[in-house]
Amino acid sequence: MAFLGKRILLGVTGGIAAYKAAEVARRLIGAGARVKVVMTRSAQEFVGPLTFAALTGEKVATAMFGPASEPLEHVALGQEVDAIVVAPATANFIGKVAGGIGDDLLTTIMLAATRPVLICPAMNAGMWANLVVQGNLARLKGRGLMVMEPAAGPLACGAVGLGRLPEPDLIVEAVAGLLSPQDLTGRQVLVTAGPTHEDFDPVRFLTNRSSGKQGYALARVAWRRGAGVTLVSGPTSLPAPYGVKYVAVRSARDMGVEVKARFPEVDVLLMAAAVSDYRPTQAEVRKIKRSQEEMAFHLTQNPDILKQVAGLKSGQIVVGFAAETHDLEAEARRKMREKHLDLIVANDVNRPDSGFQVDTNEVTLIPRIGAPVPLPLLSKEEVAAKILDQVVALLETRDGDHAKNT
Ligand code: CTP
Repeated sequence: MAFLGKRILLGVTGGIAAYKAAEVARRLIGAGARVKVVMTRSAQEFVGPLTFAALTGEKVATAMFGPASEPLEHVALGQEVDAIVVAPATANFIGKVAGGIGDDLLTTIMLAATRPVLICPAMNAGMWANLVVQGNLARLKGRGLMVMEPAAGPLACGAVGLGRLPEPDLIVEAVAGLLSPQDLTGRQVLVTAGPTHEDFDPVRFLTNRSSGKQGYALARVAWRRGAGVTLVSGPTSLPAPYGVKYVAVRSARDMGVEVKARFPEVDVLLMAAAVSDYRPTQAEVRKIKRSQEEMAFHLTQNPDILKQVAGLKSGQIVVGFAAETHDLEAEARRKMREKHLDLIVANDVNRPDSGFQVDTNEVTLIPRIGAPVPLPLLSKEEVAAKILDQVVALLETRDGDHAKNT
């Protein structure tokens, strides 16, 4: 996560979801941030400041004036931190910020704030649908504040609808976006991840050990850095990343269809999926029954998605992955040539702490032009960030060449 050493101001306003802000504070701290909580008067009707003080280890700011307040806190707090998150944000708070009103500590901090802001609205579905509230949110977005959509589900008032505070993990993910460099803004990135399932019959399939973790990390980090991201994923047990367009597929052929349809519209393809090279020649409609002592199956080769999209290339940066047990660099270079890649990420899957299923990876980035970059053992998010650094450089070179030729 992008939080180590970061200082975050968590504003809590007076809605029933205020109790969930305690979990948001905990997750932010868990990810390495230091959190300073500012509560409105009505928030304190729902949760006590002591809860947040105990969780964050810092005094909670609750008022502009009075013995507990610090001089000029209302100016300093919103300027010293790395990011501001308001969760939950009530319709009343949103209205005040939209209208430039500063009648308590938190709204005054918002007036003076110079740091990136995330607003997480939570309210009754009727309030959320109110045109005035929507107009106010549009004004906040227009001023560059990030606004999260509330989640749908049962609300405290008994109704079911839009208005729930998003899950703490999603809020933390959105904050990670606020804290990341925005060097992929305006770029469209297509990521594939996970294994494919190639059916023998309705209950059995051929697959591999890919968990999808590296591809999902790429999708998350690309979104945080400002890209529009589509993730085409084979079956995994991972949650769909926040902010990303998610397309679920099963087989290599399904994945091929989705990738080829989207490829012409994107700037970058990151082909992290472990696509099954073969599928059963015949997928039985009925469950195969146990009868003979031995069985043999015929397999048919699946289309190579990367080779197919190579023919559709019009300036896209294409990154492939090579998981190898032997001759790592030679095999990776062969695949780069055959599949017309700009960059290949090579990893040795013999190591227990690298490759399939684990949270870490040790890879070498091999560009088509230039020297290989061996990386140490890193988390899959760190590996994703290094891959995207190279992609950003390749995009800049491409745009520079394009500008020279026009
Ligand atoms: N790939 C693909 N379509 C396939 C198989 C693989 O697009 N049918 C992509 C993978 O997503 C990866 C790259 O090609 O980015 C290399 O995949 P890998 O399985 O290592 O290579 P193969 O071409 O299958 O070669 P080999 O089986 O000889 O290792």
